[in-house]
Amino acid sequence: MVLGIESSCDETGVALVHAQASGVPRLEAHALHSQIEMHQAYGGVVPELASRDHIRRVLPLARQVLAEAGRSLADVDVVAYTRGPGLAGALLVGSGVACALAAALGKPVLGVHHLEGHLLSPFLSADPPEFPFVALLVSGGHTQLMRVDAVGNYRILGETIDDAAGEAFDKSAKLMGLGYPGGPALSRLAESGDPAAFKLPRPLLHSGDLDFSFAGLKTAVLTQARKLGDDLEARKADLAASTQAAIVEVLLKKSMTALRETGLRRLVVAGGVGANRELRTRLNAACQTARVRVHYPELHLCTDNGAMIAMAAAMRLQAGHAQADHRYSFDVRPR
Ligand code: KG4
Ligand code: ZN
Repeated sequence: MVLGIESSCDETGVALVHAQASGVPRLEAHALHSQIEMHQAYGGVVPELASRDHIRRVLPLARQVLAEAGRSLADVDVVAYTRGPGLAGALLVGSGVACALAAALGKPVLGVHHLEGHLLSPFLSADPPEFPFVALLVSGGHTQLMRVDAVGNYRILGETIDDAAGEAFDKSAKLMGLGYPGGPALSRLAESGDPAAFKLPRPLLHSGDLDFSFAGLKTAVLTQARKLGDDLEARKADLAASTQAAIVEVLLKKSMTALRETGLRRLVVAGGVGANRELRTRLNAACQTARVRVHYPELHLCTDNGAMIAMAAAMRLQAGHAQADHRYSFDVRPR
């Protein structure tokens, strides 16, 4: 029984996952507190406020999860936490609480890589993928294509050389005055806009490799917004739709290339941007044509949560790729 704690950024997540000797581990319960409202007034995440709020939320959430699962702390065999990457202070809250709980219970702890959590989050769905697969990992901090052969066996096929896809959504949204978090706001607005209204660059679309670049797109959006001047307000939905179309087209094209090059017939999409509806629609259509099965985490488990951390820990332990230990060291890896 793995208790997982996520506190890398602006969501506090706690979950309980039950793993047996074989088979996909089962989620018993999970609880999440989002700090979005708290940070909204500042237009972005304020690290010190994030840490303080994690402290306030994490134990009540753990109590809630145990109650929902009908379990007590005595049932917990391993305490897992996000070791990084993320905000140092925020990570220290999760790791500190995990180590304290484990020490008090005499149970081991296991630090988990946040991205491995995202990567394995589709295993929390009713229809989990089978290995091997290509993974498109698209979050606020990372954009990577990976070949995944088994738990712990990951090869990066390509990644962003500058901004992440989520960052491209967030930064474009910010300069359109859409606030934080920008990704969901931009994609909502895009629904009423014309994706062909503005010609925006598709960086590295024809680069021949599987790398991404989104910094130039953000600059192009800024230039376009300045050019529009007073007309920006009236054309905002069109600009949002055009921006989204550019990001989605690059993600789509490179994912399909990765599938072709590896010869694999399964795609897993994970990370916050995986919640984007346009991306899902376009990927679904392309994968159907290419006879590729595509798997997503459940929509509410696309963005940060504790379930994916407990799941990644459980799967690693089950595969024998990690050992929980009793050293209770506060080792976080922000980068
Ligand atoms: O995975 P995540 O919750 O946190 C990180 O590990 O970074 O991803 C957050 C990112 C943000 O950039 C957010 O704007 C983006 O995911 N995001 C979206 C959508 N929902 C979240 N981007 C586009 N469309 C969405 N619906
Ligand atoms: Zn994340």
